[in-house]
Amino acid sequence: VTAPGQRSSRRDLRHVRRSTGHQCWDHLIVAPLWVAYEANLGTLLRTCDAVGACMAVPNTDYYRRALARGNTLAITPHIHWTGRKEAWLEERRAMGDRIVGIELADDATRLADVEPARERTVVLLGHEHSGIPDEAWKHMDEVVTIPMIGTGNSLNVAVAGSLVLYKLAGLS
Ligand SMILES: C[S@@+](CC[C@H](N)C(=O)[O-])C[C@H]1O[C@@H](n2cnc3c(N)ncnc32)[C@H](O)[C@@H]1O
Repeated sequence: VTAPGQRSSRRDLRHVRRSTGHQCWDHLIVAPLWVAYEANLGTLLRTCDAVGACMAVPNTDYYRRALARGNTLAITPHIHWTGRKEAWLEERRAMGDRIVGIELADDATRLADVEPARERTVVLLGHEHSGIPDEAWKHMDEVVTIPMIGTGNSLNVAVAGSLVLYKLAGLS
């Protein structure tokens, strides 16, 4: 036990963390359906673990290998393996899920205005080079954009996903 005013050590913190995995949280599902780089998938998995979210990725050899290589966690968060991407999105909508796309866009909700998710929410992230493909936009209920004032065109996809997941989880 840490005395008031004392900082917790890494060992203290390890004791209050979960020691077992969690089945589907049934609340937030981050879906990097077009994200290609294993390091980005691994970073997003860590954020899922931190905020209590699941991940959805296509059930292909490519994604299975990329996740296995990118994952640095001892216990992997719950994974939803999807079939055809558009069909999966239609299925989730039919189940009543809210589909939120994270993308640079005009007329989008700004990060600061994102409220904690009150319903099961799927969070879409785009490809590292080409973003969220045109055909996916009709499936989105809302688009969230992260304002930028620097010189870069966009954020790293895992950083963008992590910022929005923290807001949707109500942890920031
Ligand atoms: C590196 S960006 C892709 C940029 C791509 N060159 C384009 O112009 O569409 C990869 C993904 O990260 C997310 N992203 C990056 N920066 C973002 C921002 N400022 N606001 C919202 N999403 C962002 C989006 O999901 C985007 O599809």
